[in-house]
Amino acid sequence: MIELIPAGLVHADLLAGMHRICFAEPWSATSMAEVLALAGSEGLIAVDGASLAPAAEPPGPAGLVLWRRIFDEAEILTIAVLPPWRRQGLGARLLEAAMDSAARGGALTMFLEAAANNHAAIALYQSKGFCPVGLRKGYYGGVDGVTMSCGLDQTSVEP
Ligand SMILES: CC(C)(COP(=O)(O)OP(=O)(O)OC[C@H]1O[C@@H](n2cnc3c(N)ncnc32)[C@H](O)[C@@H]1OP(=O)(O)O)[C@@H](O)C(=O)NCCC(=O)NCCS
Repeated sequence: MIELIPAGLVHADLLAGMHRICFAEPWSATSMAEVLALAGSEGLIAVDGASLAPAAEPPGPAGLVLWRRIFDEAEILTIAVLPPWRRQGLGARLLEAAMDSAARGGALTMFLEAAANNHAAIALYQSKGFCPVGLRKGYYGGVDGVTMSCGLDQTSVEP
């Protein structure tokens, strides 16, 4: 069973290790720590909870999401799922958890960006209600960056 645990500075190496597997231009542990230290930054790590059992293998990381909220706007900074766990709903779960947390913190809108040729990511974002709102020409080494946004559900937020 996959569990989501809060990411902290102590996890910078783990986060960087996962990023290295998932991205051509990964963030270093130092970058992870710097991002997590920014005001309003939060993160979640998906771990294989079944392997937390005493006799089992060490916990296996499965994915991550980092986001930042500033007043009523939030932004997904990075999101990734390790290859063995893809297409099992984990990316959607991480994104939903980030959206819920940002909404609870007071965010009304969430933004993110993806390379225009990252069809998996764009399909994931569209499935969660994100719509394109801008284009950054050639932002990813010649590939356009698509900026997307989604209004956050305030109905489940405690007054
Ligand atoms: C993008 C990413 C996070 C998706 O994670 P995931 O756990 O596989 O996504 P989910 O299983 O939650 O998929 C949810 C929906 O997104 C869409 N989707 C996800 N991967 C897809 C793919 N490869 N092709 C088409 N649609 C896809 C589908 O609509 C899917 O729903 P479905 O499985 O019921 O059809 C993962 O592919 C990844 O880590 N990629 C590398 C890092 C990356 O590109 N991060 C985003 C940077 S902008």
